[in-house]
Formats: sequence, C-alpha cells, structure tokens
Amino acid sequence: MIPIAKPWIGDAEKQAVLDVLESGMLVQGPRVKALEERFAEVCGTRYAVATSSGTTALHVALLAHGIGPGDEVITTSFTFIATVSSILFTGAKPVFVDIEEETFNLNPALIEEAITPRTRAIIPVHLYGHPCDMDAILDIARRRDLVVVEDAAQAIGARYKGRPVGGFGTGCFSLYATKNVMSGEGGMITTNDEEFADKCRMLRSHGSRRRYYYEFLGYNLRMSDLHAAIGLTQIGRLDEFTARRRANAAYFNERITSVIIPIVRDGCEHVWHQYTVRVTDGRDRDAAVRQLNEAGVGTGVFYPVPLHQQGYIREIVGRVSLPVTEQMAREVISLPVHPQLTEADLEKIVDEVNRL
Ligand SMILES: Cc1ncc(COP(=O)(O)O)c(C=O)c1O
Repeated sequence: MIPIAKPWIGDAEKQAVLDVLESGMLVQGPRVKALEERFAEVCGTRYAVATSSGTTALHVALLAHGIGPGDEVITTSFTFIATVSSILFTGAKPVFVDIEEETFNLNPALIEEAITPRTRAIIPVHLYGHPCDMDAILDIARRRDLVVVEDAAQAIGARYKGRPVGGFGTGCFSLYATKNVMSGEGGMITTNDEEFADKCRMLRSHGSRRRYYYEFLGYNLRMSDLHAAIGLTQIGRLDEFTARRRANAAYFNERITSVIIPIVRDGCEHVWHQYTVRVTDGRDRDAAVRQLNEAGVGTGVFYPVPLHQQGYIREIVGRVSLPVTEQMAREVISLPVHPQLTEADLEKIVDEVNRL
C-alpha cells in the first residue's frame, strides 16, 4: 500500500536523537531554543515559542490573548478537532462559519454576520496547506477589534501575497509525525509581540519565569530537546520537502481527469500538506476510497464528520447549518503527496484515480 503519509526518518534524525541522549540533557534546552529561532525565521516573526503539540500551541495562544468563559471565537467546522477543543479548553464558545468551496477555507464574506458583542477572536485554518484569504480576514479583525490566531498546523512555509503564514496574527503550528516538518509530537506559537511571547512561555511552564516562583496558574506543556532535535533536522530541509510536494501535486494536476482537483488561488503559495480531490455528481466517495485502498493506494478523508455535527459539540453550539462544509465532508479524498513518493508510486496513484 502506498501510505497517505510517511514521516522522513533518515540518518540525520537518528543521529540528532542519539546526540541528545548522549548529552544526558533531555528536557527543554538548547535544541528547543534553536528550533524556536529557526521557526521564527521561517515565519518572519520576532519570536517563536515551542509547546508539546499543535493542540497546546492553540490552547496557550488563546489563553495568552485572555480568551475565556463568556467569549466567542469564530472558526471553521471543517478542521481537525484541536482547532475547536482548544477554544473549549479556555471556556469560550466556538461559532462556526461556512467555508469556500474552492479552497476549503473559512469564507470571509460570512464572518461579519457571525460577530456578536461577545466575539473576541477569529481562527482561520490554512487547511491542507493552502493559505486563507488573509487580507479579508485581517480587514474584518481590524475593523471589529478582534484577535486573529492562525491555525497553521498544516501549512508551514505557505505564503499569502509573499508573506509566510503564521506571521499575520498569532501563528500556531503542529510538528506531529505526519506534518510537513515534524518532531514526532510538538507545537509552535509565532508572534511579533514580546510581552505575548513571554506570557506563552510562562503558560507552558507553570506560570513561572524563575524556577520555583509562580506568578499565575500555568501548565507543563513544554517540548523536549529530543523532539526539538528531530524538528531541527527537518526544518533544515523544509524547502526541499516543499519542492517535492509541489512537484508531486503538479504531476497529479496534469494527469488526474476523473475527479475535481484542488486549485491554488492567485497570490497563494500552497505547501500541499494534503492533495485533496472531490468525488462529485452523486458518486459514492466511500466506495471510491475502498476501490483505491483495494488497489494499494492509501487515502485519507479529512474530515468525514464536520465538527458542528459531532455529538458533544452539537450540544454546546446547537444545530447549525453549514451547507458547503457538509458537502465537502461528503466529497473529499486526500491522496498521498508526501516527499517520499517514487515515480512508480505517482504513476500508480494517477492510474488508479483515473479508473474511478
Ligand atoms: C488543523 C489542525 N489544527 C491543529 C492540529 C493539532 O496538532 P497536534 O496534533 O500537534 O496537537 C492539527 C494536527 O494534528 C491540525 O491538522
């Protein structure tokens, strides 16, 4: 089976972990600091703060913005659970806005009507690695005095009008094993605000600036140097990994004819965390998934049930209708696009998809 994702674990990753083990210093230390510096460079921000996961990066970022009970946060329902669970952890309420069919991302034209006096923040998710329409989102945020927390978990290196994602508002990234740059588990917050970065650092480590002196209630959400060592080897190859993903996506774009292929909007530089096609015209997506899997092509469905339709979330937000989100959840299939695909893999994927 050609896997839908395959973490790149080469000699450099193995050696980096061994070096940390041999140093005897396993917890957050110099490698975490070095990874933070590299992330800030990639995102064009002054600061980056590493956390234990993308989920905790979002949680810490929202807390550091002072978001909590009584507040509302606007976001998409067509995303991974962590976008919304991080809102819920703070005590705030998610408010869902429908997406654009073309990009699968938050539709800015629908945001203003969802704003209430309780709205504090917008979380645009750069889904699959395609940047959101940031000009429109930032314009609304400025006019309505809202915080923007970008969920860039899937989008490291993506650019909107030449600027890297994660540098428009507060950026949150995941370094989970299947991400474009991974550390096994890990997260990162990017920002230009020194005070905010400091608050994030304290929240991730017991509300403490100085060991055994605690200023407010904090967590242990640190990244270990073992994880950072892997992340450092990976981020050094970001451009190469992204170029391979782009070449794979271009190969598919030229050859896949049986389903709707993804687009890249003008001004956007996609990093193809996922290459996601749509099975339309009443055809059965789940049957297509079975057919591909039986032929040896791994697939992913991100995401089969949108978050506003998940039982416990529906109890919190009530019944919401998001027609485009619901349609995309029925139609999408992600194909393998990762950097380790061979020419033979690419040919096979195209052949099998064109047989659908
Ligand atoms: C859009 C999105 N947000 C948040 C996360 C959470 O990241 P993590 O799994 O590192 O906690 C992920 C990835 O898993 C994601 O894809």
